Amino acid sequence: MRALLISIFLIFCCLGFEVNSIVCDPPVGTPVNEPFGESFGINPGRVVWVLDREATKWDGINGYWFDSDNLDQSRVDNMLDKAIRSLTGNDDIVESWDMLFRDFNKRKHGKENGYVPGQTIAMKINLNGDFGYYEDNNGNEVSPQFLKSLMTHLTKYAGVAEKDLYVFDASRLIMPHFQKMFEQYFPDINLVDNKGGMGSVQRAQPDPTSYLQFSNTDVPAQKLTKLPTFVNQADYMIEIDDFRGHDTAGITLSGKNWFGSIYRPDVSCDFGTTSSGHWCPMSLHKFVNVTIRPMGSYNALVDLMGHPKLTSNTLFIISDALYAGPTEFDHTSGYNVPSPPVTFEMEPFNNHWSSSILIAQDPIALDSVGLDILRTEPHIPFARIGCTDNYLHEGALANDPPSGTVYNPSGQGQLSSLGVHEHWNNAYERKYTKNIDPVNGKGIELVEIHLSDD
Ligand SMILES: *[C@@H]1O[C@H](CO)[C@@H](O)[C@H](O)[C@H]1NC(C)=O
Repeated sequence: MRALLISIFLIFCCLGFEVNSIVCDPPVGTPVNEPFGESFGINPGRVVWVLDREATKWDGINGYWFDSDNLDQSRVDNMLDKAIRSLTGNDDIVESWDMLFRDFNKRKHGKENGYVPGQTIAMKINLNGDFGYYEDNNGNEVSPQFLKSLMTHLTKYAGVAEKDLYVFDASRLIMPHFQKMFEQYFPDINLVDNKGGMGSVQRAQPDPTSYLQFSNTDVPAQKLTKLPTFVNQADYMIEIDDFRGHDTAGITLSGKNWFGSIYRPDVSCDFGTTSSGHWCPMSLHKFVNVTIRPMGSYNALVDLMGHPKLTSNTLFIISDALYAGPTEFDHTSGYNVPSPPVTFEMEPFNNHWSSSILIAQDPIALDSVGLDILRTEPHIPFARIGCTDNYLHEGALANDPPSGTVYNPSGQGQLSSLGVHEHWNNAYERKYTKNIDPVNGKGIELVEIHLSDD
């Protein structure tokens, strides 16, 4: 009932946002089935979307959505297993992990090496619903069940020791329900957050030797951004996204997720108790604000995604869309309250929780599919507030972007294409060029897997 009331509230409160304050040319969602940019990976352009409505059973009122009765661990395990095997096209899960490491190392180092024990993996999770306190709440977010499945894969199938794994959000807090899960099952995995204030959780430290510049001289502290030490030193990243709307950027997927990884000496925001120190991306919001930035304008997300230590150091991108929501937290009332998950009306969700996991090697392809879903869904109004796909155009064509920006986040040369962008034909068939023509299609291939369909 609460979820329903909040959904109704959001629909009414946010209708005004649906009127674009600027004209987007081309309009968001177009052109249709005209891919551009270059994909890569084992199956270039592939985005796997696994949906299992039986995994998510919260009544929307009692307890937390992440309680064990409300999010079925064994179903989530099965979903992740299917997602990874479908991404590689190999039925063997151990071989699939090995393929992902080999493909990555071939691209990055020119050698098809598998995982070598001792190599480190850093995983950015998005904990924007924390409110600055070590207290659980019902805000939509990555789930402990999903993280448990992924950590099981890494330690069991990929052969990574717990001590070589880092799970972090430098701007936010690892809340008790996450910490409990890690303590119980993976006590030696490194947890890093903004304050380091709970149990074994460490506080993020900027690496003075790291370097990240923004490719637009208007960005404050343009050349002074630092990354966490273990990120700068990681052999691999895995990006774990939330899947939701965002009041400024329109959507939060693999691009926006990096806002919690950067140390910015220009602004120390102790706004409330939300995040302290300089792990604060506030002064960047102007450069991702889709209501003021037209198509063909610079977007700071492209610099983050293209940086050699961020998405460009990423094994794969995965969205925990088991209980997705409209925004990070709701501050339409003047103060922040948790933004709980909402049900998704559109087919194939059919008024159920979003109950999904999405995975891809190509970040632009993943975010393109995510945007097509989110902007179609009536309960995610922020996905329709402005020129939401500008960063996907800029990123797909990072070598020659519509804005004319020379994207060079590492200072070592202009980026090449970050991946392939395309919009589906329509929300009912959800076909991309490789679905329409597997042989000649040059864009995205969406693999939809529906478990336990009614
Ligand atoms: C984004 O732009 C709109 C329109 O100018 C403005 O009202 C809003 O405050 C901006 N958001 C942020 C976070 O700067």
